Amino acid sequence: MKRNLLVALTCALALAFLGCPPKTESTGTTTSSGAEGEILVGEYGSLTGGQATFGNSTHTAIMLAVDGINAAGGVNGRKIRIQTEDDQSKAEEAANTVTKLISQDRVVAVLGEVASSNSLAAAPICQANKVPMITPSSTNPSVTQKGDYIFRMCFLDDYQGAAMARYIHNTLGLNKVAVLIDNKSDYSTGLAKYFTEAFTSIGGQIVATQSFTSGDADFRAQLTAIRTTNPQLIYIPAYYNDVGQIAIQARDLGMNMPLAGGDGWESPKLIEIGGKALEGCFYSNHYFPGDPDPAVRDFVEKYKQRYGATPDALAALAYDAARVLAEAIKRAGKTDGPALRDAIAQTKGFKGVTGTINLGPDRNPEGKTLVIVEVKNLALALKAKVEPAGAAPATGTH
Ligand code: PHE
Repeated sequence: MKRNLLVALTCALALAFLGCPPKTESTGTTTSSGAEGEILVGEYGSLTGGQATFGNSTHTAIMLAVDGINAAGGVNGRKIRIQTEDDQSKAEEAANTVTKLISQDRVVAVLGEVASSNSLAAAPICQANKVPMITPSSTNPSVTQKGDYIFRMCFLDDYQGAAMARYIHNTLGLNKVAVLIDNKSDYSTGLAKYFTEAFTSIGGQIVATQSFTSGDADFRAQLTAIRTTNPQLIYIPAYYNDVGQIAIQARDLGMNMPLAGGDGWESPKLIEIGGKALEGCFYSNHYFPGDPDPAVRDFVEKYKQRYGATPDALAALAYDAARVLAEAIKRAGKTDGPALRDAIAQTKGFKGVTGTINLGPDRNPEGKTLVIVEVKNLALALKAKVEPAGAAPATGTH
């Protein structure tokens, strides 16, 4: 017992002095820095915990993209290898996993996270170490403001909040709305703010604003307070696990108005949790798997073939993120941080599953479309498509 501990300690110390060489795996290959070796890319995500479907959808799509790239010969003759870390849906763990990926595994770039609070915790570490990070799906504007090594593939919350405000007010003609916020989430507080600003600026009225903390089990106090203000709709910019419970409890309280939200509702678990309570509810999202676009068709087919499930928006964005990174590595011709950062920043006209990716000077993609999906007969249906410049088209009119 004692001797084993001593051996382990000695190894740990030796590793520390050697600067922790990258691990080799049973596939038997080499380091991230060698010319012919594999290129090691880090991935951190919520594989367990409250938002576990976010991390799992992201991971499956990254593997699909990377295996496809490797099967076609890799990047500049080198294979890409993904080193994945689970942050358990926690911001502190997001910071820890990224520190590990950078200082121990010596990854050349990092893919992740989904939840904005987790990306915000990890981004400064990537920035300080000059390791490019691409978040596929964190929509809070401040994520890419952490520095010039931080990029994203998705639209931002000011855009999605305003699009939903216009759709609810101008297209559906609803005027009195309540907002229910997860006050521990940067995504939720930010999106609530952008939605509220946009909704009131076009003449709508926010009749109540209530908040909870992600993971709460009982939302009845907040819902009861909202009920007294008689809203025509409740806007809930939160994550699927809470949204499902909120919907059930609202119906139990006799509240039958539609609920609406943002991309955080997106999960194969949403309808599983909320069921009938979500019928007629809707949210803004990044893509719709039934889209006839050939790039979408190709991706959906490949994903279904491998995993036997329809890919959600997290998967679509992650697929784009992995392929944008691979293309940037190819253009850079090397993998040092500054060269890779410059190459990613120059991404223009990249034909992705979630649209054409043109990264702007702020490292966010320009002109992405948004879809509004609705729960209909316990499945997701496309309700509207919002093009970047305009308002949502009115249904049934022109
Ligand atoms: N946009 C969410 C966030 O920033 C994450 C998310 C994206 C969730 C897409 C679901 C679908 O926290």
